Amino acid sequence: MAEIRIENLKYKYPYTDRLALNGITCQIKPGEFIGVVGSNGAGKSTLSQALTGLVPNFYRGTYGGKVWIDETEVRTVEVDELCQKVGSIFQKPFNQITGSKATVYEEVAFGLENFGLSETEMKERIEESLELLDIAQYRDRAPFDLSGGQMQRLAIASIIAMRPEVIILDEPTSQLDPQGSEAVFQAIEKLSQQGITVIMVEHKIEKIAAYSDRVMLMHDGKLIDFDTPQTIFSRDDLDQYGVMPPTFTQICRALGLTLSDGQTYPVTLEEARQLLAMEGGSYEPH
Ligand SMILES: Nc1ncnc2c1ncn2[C@@H]1O[C@H](COP(=O)(O)OP(=O)(O)OP(=O)(O)O)[C@@H](O)[C@H]1O
Ligand SMILES: [Mg+2]
Repeated sequence: MAEIRIENLKYKYPYTDRLALNGITCQIKPGEFIGVVGSNGAGKSTLSQALTGLVPNFYRGTYGGKVWIDETEVRTVEVDELCQKVGSIFQKPFNQITGSKATVYEEVAFGLENFGLSETEMKERIEESLELLDIAQYRDRAPFDLSGGQMQRLAIASIIAMRPEVIILDEPTSQLDPQGSEAVFQAIEKLSQQGITVIMVEHKIEKIAAYSDRVMLMHDGKLIDFDTPQTIFSRDDLDQYGVMPPTFTQICRALGLTLSDGQTYPVTLEEARQLLAMEGGSYEPH
C-alpha cells in the first residue's frame, strides 16, 4: 500500500529550454486508480518517468521539487531499487521484452529471478498474471512471435507478477483491440481493488472515465486540474487542452440537458442512461 506525494515538481530535459513539468503538486492515496489525460507533449510520459525515478536519474536534466513514494524520495534512490516497489509499462511494449527468453512463460519468470521466491510461489505468480491478462494459452510461444497487442499484455503480465505497490502504465492499450483494452482495464482495476496504486496515461477517454477514481488533466507541463472524472469532463474548456469529453458527456451536452447546481455531466453509459431517464419519459430514441 503506497501513497504518492508530489511537491512543486519541475523538470527540463537536457539541451531543451522549456519545462516539461512545471510546478506539479498533488497527492495520491494508496489503491487509487488515477487516469492521466492531456494533449501530445503535455508531460504525461515525463510525469510517469518522474515516478519511476528515470527522471532525473536516467534522463538527467534540470530537476526541482520532490516526489515521494511513501517515505522514499524517488530521486535519492537507485532506479533498480525502486522498481520492485514501482512497476511501469512504457508506451512501446516492444522495448520491454527482454529478447533473450524463448517463451512467454520464461519472459515473465525472468523478472522474478532476483526476488528469492520458492519455485511454487514463482509458478503461482506467473500462472496468475498470465491468466489475468488472458495470455496463458501462449505460454510456450516465443515472445517476438506475438502480435503487438499480445506483446503489450505480456509486458503488463511481467510487471504484475512482481506485485509492485504502485503500477504506472503509459498508454498500455495503444496496440489493443476494444476487447483487449477492456480486458487490460479490468485486470488493472482488480489490482487497484487489491490496494495497488494505479497511474494510467491514456487517450481512451471513455475507459479513463469509467475506471478512474480521479483524473489528472495536464497541459504544457502543468497540472491543470485533478478531480473526479465527472468534474474533469464537465469542464467546458476541455478543448483548450486538446481533450474530448466522453461521447456520453457530449451527447448529454448536445441535448441541452440542464444540470442543477453542483451537478456534473455523466461520463459513462450508465450515468447518461440515468440522467436521460430522470429528464422525463418524453425522451425517445428514434
Ligand atoms: N527525451 C526527451 N528529450 C527532450 N525532450 C523531451 C524528451 N521526451 C519528451 N520531451 C519533451 O517534453 C515535453 C513533454 O513530453 P511527454 O513525452 O512527457 O508528453 P506526453 O504528454 O507523454 O505526450 P504524448 O501524448 O505525445 O505521449 C514535450 O515538449 C517533449 O517534446
Ligand atoms: Mg507520452
